[in-house]
Amino acid sequence: MSEKPFIKSNGSESASHDDAEIKAASEGAPIALGSPSKDRVRTRRRICILSIIAFFVVILALALGLGLGLGLQHHSSANYVTTNSSFLLNSSFVITSTPTTRYYEWAVGEATGSPDDFQRTMLVVNNQFPGPLIEVNSGDELVVNVFNKMSNGTTIHWHGQIQNGTNYMDGTSGITQCPIPPGMNFTYRFTIDPNQYGTFWWHAHASTQYTDGIYGPFIIHSPNEPIIDQYDREAVIVLSDWYHDMSSGLLTQYLSNAGIDGSNYGGFNPGAEPVPDSGLINGLMTGSSFIFEPNLRYRLRLINAGSLTEFVFSVDDHVLDVVEADGTSLDAVSVHRVPINVAQRYSVILTTNQTSGSYNVRGEMQSVCYKLTNPNLNTMVLGTMTYGAEPSTNVTTQDWSDAFPQDCVDLNSTMIVPALPLAAPNSTQDVLVTMSFQQTVDSGGQQTRAFINNTSWQPDSSDATVLQMSLGGATTSFDSNQLVVVSDNIGVINLVLNNQDDASHPFHLHGHVFWIVGEGAGLYEPGVSIYTSSTNPPRRDTLSVPGYSWIAIRFSTDNPGLWAFHCHIGWHMAAGLLMQFASLPSEIQKFNIPSYVGEQCKSQSGGSLVG
Ligand code: C2O
Repeated sequence: MSEKPFIKSNGSESASHDDAEIKAASEGAPIALGSPSKDRVRTRRRICILSIIAFFVVILALALGLGLGLGLQHHSSANYVTTNSSFLLNSSFVITSTPTTRYYEWAVGEATGSPDDFQRTMLVVNNQFPGPLIEVNSGDELVVNVFNKMSNGTTIHWHGQIQNGTNYMDGTSGITQCPIPPGMNFTYRFTIDPNQYGTFWWHAHASTQYTDGIYGPFIIHSPNEPIIDQYDREAVIVLSDWYHDMSSGLLTQYLSNAGIDGSNYGGFNPGAEPVPDSGLINGLMTGSSFIFEPNLRYRLRLINAGSLTEFVFSVDDHVLDVVEADGTSLDAVSVHRVPINVAQRYSVILTTNQTSGSYNVRGEMQSVCYKLTNPNLNTMVLGTMTYGAEPSTNVTTQDWSDAFPQDCVDLNSTMIVPALPLAAPNSTQDVLVTMSFQQTVDSGGQQTRAFINNTSWQPDSSDATVLQMSLGGATTSFDSNQLVVVSDNIGVINLVLNNQDDASHPFHLHGHVFWIVGEGAGLYEPGVSIYTSSTNPPRRDTLSVPGYSWIAIRFSTDNPGLWAFHCHIGWHMAAGLLMQFASLPSEIQKFNIPSYVGEQCKSQSGGSLVG
């Protein structure tokens, strides 16, 4: 079963085809006018006819050129970003356990947009921001054909998908595939795990590209979702931080010895990150508006698609019942505010039973977690929710009076009680790792890099690690910048992560839902009893490790493939804060990897396609 890659012809290619036609037409004109030397004794009439023909050819060429020029201009003004400011889910979507195949055609490219009124070049899918909503049922097959119109390589990752048997569709640059070269496409095809449902997202997974806009919601429905009867309508709310500069430039500065603010910060405060310029709710700094109906229960699916910022979400005068964390249904717990760190998701249920009118929807950026400050940043990002009235442009409702403790931590794990209890299995293997930031001499100069144990990850863009283990011949030894824990048999890993940095880091494990079995301040001391709950610990896929603290998570190595475990802060992953788990090499050997996956690696050995 070797699928061929195909280069999709789309708008940009037909534009260059048209360019070629313009050229031919204008070259045609001089040929008609020229070469009079052959016969100097042509009659005036013949010259006259030729002149008339030439005149019309020139006019035609000019008209064509003008017309196409206008056409192209029109084409490039279509490259302005369309904002998906309200992801109200379509209540006609049929939730069923009968699977189907769903197809999406995506073009990733540059477009101009101004989510916070500052105009900049963005990287987006199909000119939309946030990107297109994917809505499926558990068990569906998903086919997304991604065409890369950018000048750098890219990949698209399906955050939180189990990908059992299709690890090579996980979309992780340097791990499960090489970047899709410019002008090429990659068809992602995989089946949604039949036991998975809830709120997910997708994003670029090459360098810091998603920071520039390549992300969107990914919703999985299921008739078996335990919370399905607890709401009448649903809406997606994407929270994100936003920068005025392209992330590639910020990244270079961030990693340099001078550091992001140019004051040699790197020397004594390694890892001080670029502070965002604004925050967005569904792609807008101001003006996101949710028009609801009175006396209904709304499931708000919160997604933090940011690159650095933890948000605290709330709606004035409305209690929120938290019922889902990262795809795990929970026993409802009522709160005024939900903290949501980078890459995490929560569903909260809000009932529209207060006085009709408009209310503030708040995404409060936790700037206290930044190492540097940005005096121009407005940390309170506001949208509005309206029901039973005309939307107001002047909402005066008050914030809850009880403040949220500003300590850069997750919702307390005692509040995350899975609705379907599942005890954590006993572990068969202990893995203890320590993360830190260090100054290092790399590629000719001093740099700040992030380390897990002694390894600072760098993606191998011409030989993804899963291909080294499969097509490349079953290797289990990797380059020194790859920290890979290999498990030959199905077992249970107890992973303890010590955070030796002063900041909080949201860690994500690909391809798994893990149990949170322990957490504590300081360094983990072996032998400490670690259970948060032995019978029904919290389960999710992204967990914050507070500064100078440790976490213990547990997962089964029953999913064959190479799975990234990394800090989801874009800057930190790019600085190397990533390790991998390689499960069941003998199964990886049997993977039916489409031929284009390997071909796209070969096409770029030697090239540096990731910006
Ligand atoms: Cu949301 Cu490794 O990614």
